[in-house]
Amino acid sequence: MPAARVLVTRQLPDGGLAPLHAAGYEVVQRADDTPFTPDELRAAVVDVDALVCVLADRIDAEVLHAGAHANPPLRVVSTVSVGHDNVDVAAATALGIAVCNTPGVLDDTTADLAFLLLLAAARRASDAEATLRGGDWTGFHIRDFLGTDVHGATLGIVGYGRIGRAMARRADGFGMTVLHHTRHDTGVDGWVADLDDLLARADAVTLHVPLTLDTTHLIDARRLALMPPHAVLVNTARGPVVDEVALADALERGALFGAGIDVYEREPAVHPQLLAAPHTVLLPHIGSATEQTRRRMAELACEGVVAVLAGERPANLVSG
Ligand code: DGY
Repeated sequence: MPAARVLVTRQLPDGGLAPLHAAGYEVVQRADDTPFTPDELRAAVVDVDALVCVLADRIDAEVLHAGAHANPPLRVVSTVSVGHDNVDVAAATALGIAVCNTPGVLDDTTADLAFLLLLAAARRASDAEATLRGGDWTGFHIRDFLGTDVHGATLGIVGYGRIGRAMARRADGFGMTVLHHTRHDTGVDGWVADLDDLLARADAVTLHVPLTLDTTHLIDARRLALMPPHAVLVNTARGPVVDEVALADALERGALFGAGIDVYEREPAVHPQLLAAPHTVLLPHIGSATEQTRRRMAELACEGVVAVLAGERPANLVSG
């Protein structure tokens, strides 16, 4: 029997493909990191058994149909991300294609970055550094770059999965009061049933929900208006969870103190109004970007492929 063929859409961290090599699979990959266009992806999935992709690849119903009806049929899509909103999971399931992701290996790394954004936005680190780098620092002024305290403040965590809980552990170390909101009672102290209530009570809010129809624009103009004007919003989840224009408006009007943002509604585009908004720290989707974590994510995605092709049920199966 010929070796299974696995299309890997990007260059992955060193060692990330080890599970595929160990299984003796043929890895089909471009020499460089140029993203596949939708047409290229549809064409490329017709002679592979498995696809390893990243969150910037849209694996829609058309791609999945092309793969499922090919010979050999595409059997598994594994995304090197914990979020799997880039894959049409319902279409994959209907077509008998398994979907895997990378849960559990990026929680602390992502929470580290969310906490960094919280601190940096609250303490206006980007404004202050830009002033210094721009040669505009005129020396110490006691009223310059006044931020807002993180220690002792109340942190509202929206979504209390692994990353949300990792944020709670960090907040404890800063003496923060921690509230969290999920739809179902977690049974953990600090659970707030009503998101609006949490937004009104928190000095800082950090988002850790997956992107679904229900969470699209979860934080919209109405909800931003519930937050106190000294509050900071952090988003390391998915861009469309926040209405970017409404956020920029709130920051411009001083209705919100600051924002630390790692994810955007239309990546890699960032709304110009958000780019210009005051007290913002904007990073280019690097929540899980450490050598160790990205390598482990790549390995885990590949381990999922190996398990599915071996007829086993991988621990990181989303559906299938
Ligand atoms: C994910 O895994 O979903 C992050 O957004 C990127 O690491």
